[in-house]
Amino acid sequence: MRLKEIVTKVLEFDSESEFNTQDSDLIKIAKANINHAYSPYSKFSVSAAIQLDNNETVTGTNQENAAYPSGLCAERVAMFYANSKFPESKPLTIAIAAFTNGDFLEVPIPPCGSCRQVLLESEIRYKSPIRVILIGKSKIFLLENVKSLLPLSFDGGFLKVK
Ligand code: THU
Repeated sequence: MRLKEIVTKVLEFDSESEFNTQDSDLIKIAKANINHAYSPYSKFSVSAAIQLDNNETVTGTNQENAAYPSGLCAERVAMFYANSKFPESKPLTIAIAAFTNGDFLEVPIPPCGSCRQVLLESEIRYKSPIRVILIGKSKIFLLENVKSLLPLSFDGGFLKVK
């Protein structure tokens, strides 16, 4: 028997000003778009902004539904839209912010498991790491890739037909 350890590295920042201009612009866009969320049931709004390698920025917000499971998280709305509108362009960075009870969250929320799976698919599809910026009021986290958020993941490699 062997113990295998998987290490996830998270960079923690105290403020948006510690980021370069492209990242801090993306953070601003994610926050500015929060009121595009449609979250009448949870009253929990989430916004995601994706920087692509063609210099475009794509945004998405959570879209809820009276039939609850039919709604979709902000990260998947944004990534599916990015991949659909610009299928030739690599997503480079996704920035995510959440807002409830009249304010952004103090500490960032990490994407749910289904969103991690979808973000990982894009990372593999475009053969390029997607940086993840998780925005909180007092802390901002940066992960250098999606794989580190979803170790021991299932991917298309397992589906290869011989
Ligand atoms: N939500 C997101 O949009 N992204 C996440 O990473 C976590 C949760 C949404 C789904 C639902 O509309 C609301 O937040 C409450 O779960």
